[in-house]
Amino acid sequence: MDKRIAIVTGANRGIGTEVVRQLAEKKWKVILTARDEAQGRKACEDLAGRGLDVQFHRLDVTDPENIHRLAQDLKADPGRLDVLVNNAGVLMDEDRGSDRITIETLRRTMEANFFGPFQLSQALLPLLNRSDDARIVNVSSGLGQLSDGGGGYPAYSISKAALNMMTVQLAEDLKGRVKVNSVCPGWVRTEMGGPGATRSVEKGAESIVWLATDPMIPNGKFIRDRKEIAW
Ligand SMILES: NC(=O)c1ccc[n+]([C@@H]2O[C@H](COP(=O)([O-])OP(=O)(O)OC[C@H]3O[C@@H](n4cnc5c(N)ncnc54)[C@H](OP(=O)(O)O)[C@@H]3O)[C@@H](O)[C@H]2O)c1
Repeated sequence: MDKRIAIVTGANRGIGTEVVRQLAEKKWKVILTARDEAQGRKACEDLAGRGLDVQFHRLDVTDPENIHRLAQDLKADPGRLDVLVNNAGVLMDEDRGSDRITIETLRRTMEANFFGPFQLSQALLPLLNRSDDARIVNVSSGLGQLSDGGGGYPAYSISKAALNMMTVQLAEDLKGRVKVNSVCPGWVRTEMGGPGATRSVEKGAESIVWLATDPMIPNGKFIRDRKEIAW
């Protein structure tokens, strides 16, 4: 059987790098993307040095030109994708409530956490359509839950709630072709989560990798620890 092929955004560090590692350990071919070329190549070389099938491609998810170029390059080689992991994300709220958050912060957060994943998903659909088991995994957050969202990070929460609605819309419109789910990794010790977070990156990546690889996953759900949670 052909190797399964995944692409992961924001994979030069944190949960993204770990998702690439876990997928590649399962003998997948993984395209590791990052907006910083040097950091992305370094992460890729570290994994490839362990014998893993990992390739680098530069991608700033907020740059439409980058997205177009990536889609063109992947169309030429490898010509198909099985899984897109929309992992790249920013948290820039700086302790401001929704009464004081600047529109600039809101816009920049939406660009990275919502418009980027949206445009990238659309651009890579032709390649996902060539898979017999295509999936999009949107790395969201409990802070984006409408049912439990008040956590003091308004721009971030709004962007992840929008990402979740993107999951719902795409899951419906692509039914039978691509499974689309949101996932909360939990509170993870990364640059974003900070050193006091309760989870390792290995644990944070677990449900993301499960949604990418398990034969029996749902469609159009919000998942944490392999279980459905409320929107
Ligand atoms: N850590 C947690 O507790 C936690 C909890 C819930 C959800 N999440 C979500 O999990 C995902 C991964 O977060 P993390 O904890 O691994 O955070 P992280 O260590 O801060 O990593 C974020 C990654 O996203 C990349 N990124 C940001 N903007 C980008 C852009 N425009 N284009 C491409 N890449 C971009 C960063 O690249 P640079 O290095 O260039 O900045 C970095 O590689 C995010 O979507 C986050 O919202 C994390």
